[in-house]
Amino acid sequence: MGRKRVLLTRGIHRSALRDLRGEFSLRIHSGEIPMPRGELISKIRDADGLICFPYDRIDGEVMDAGPRLRAISTYSVGFDHIDIQHAKRRGIRVGYTPGVLTDATADLAMALMLDVMRRVSEGDRIIRGGGWKQIYGAYDYVGRDLGGKTLGILGMGRIGEAVARRASAFGMRIAYHSRTRLPRTREAGLKARFVGLDGLIAGSDVLSLHVPHTAETDSMINLAALRRMKRTAFLINTARGRIVDEGGLVTALRGRMIAGAGLDVFRSEPVGAGHPLIGMDNVVLAPHIGSSTAETRERMSEITVENLRLGISGRKPAHSVGY
Ligand code: DGY
Repeated sequence: MGRKRVLLTRGIHRSALRDLRGEFSLRIHSGEIPMPRGELISKIRDADGLICFPYDRIDGEVMDAGPRLRAISTYSVGFDHIDIQHAKRRGIRVGYTPGVLTDATADLAMALMLDVMRRVSEGDRIIRGGGWKQIYGAYDYVGRDLGGKTLGILGMGRIGEAVARRASAFGMRIAYHSRTRLPRTREAGLKARFVGLDGLIAGSDVLSLHVPHTAETDSMINLAALRRMKRTAFLINTARGRIVDEGGLVTALRGRMIAGAGLDVFRSEPVGAGHPLIGMDNVVLAPHIGSSTAETRERMSEITVENLRLGISGRKPAHSVGY
């Protein structure tokens, strides 16, 4: 029997590829990113396994184009780009990379918070543009303290908790809302107060999003929600762009309904030059780099390979989406 075949919509770390090559026959897409859908559908035809990324839409049509497909391993903690129900019906194992990117993503949420609240990137742009004319006065380059502010965490999973721990060290008060309330001892350890969704939106000085993107969370932060936030509040999103109604956010920022935003994720990525958020000084933008540290990305490659290997052999991946 020949070697099993694995399709990768993009390369991963060389060491991980070496491991894979030892066992499988690989086909790695190296052209346009994301891999054009037509190409994906045609190349998945003889694949036993697929390694994909959050921007690849892996729906029923793609899966059914691959009759041999046994395993999908995504290089991400998010798996909203994969039709999990369809995979389950087909008996295709799906693995993802939770845990390893918790700290990196929580660090980035703090970085965006600090940046937008203390206007670091804005200042950087001023200096680079030759616009720094005098040393500070009472009202120049004035930002906001983190200490004493209420951080509202929407979605208290691993990343939400890691953000809570970091923000506490900055003297912030922690409120949160989650589908499932944490055990009281855990709340006490995090000094986190559970509140209703409306209370979280209206009462936070900083609202940081950490829910997955699902049908329920799609556009959850819309114009109506943004209107209920404090005018001095900041929105931080390191989760998924589709949780926010971006048109509503642009309106809220333009109308100074909120003070600013730090965003790592967008409804459509990459964000093009004409995007309305680009001209706004009260917004810090990052190119979806939540998990982007050398250490984290390497570990993600290892887990992606481990998941694929188990899934392709018919076993449950070490990090499985649940079946
Ligand atoms: C993920 O893993 O889902 C992240 O969005 C990647 O940075």
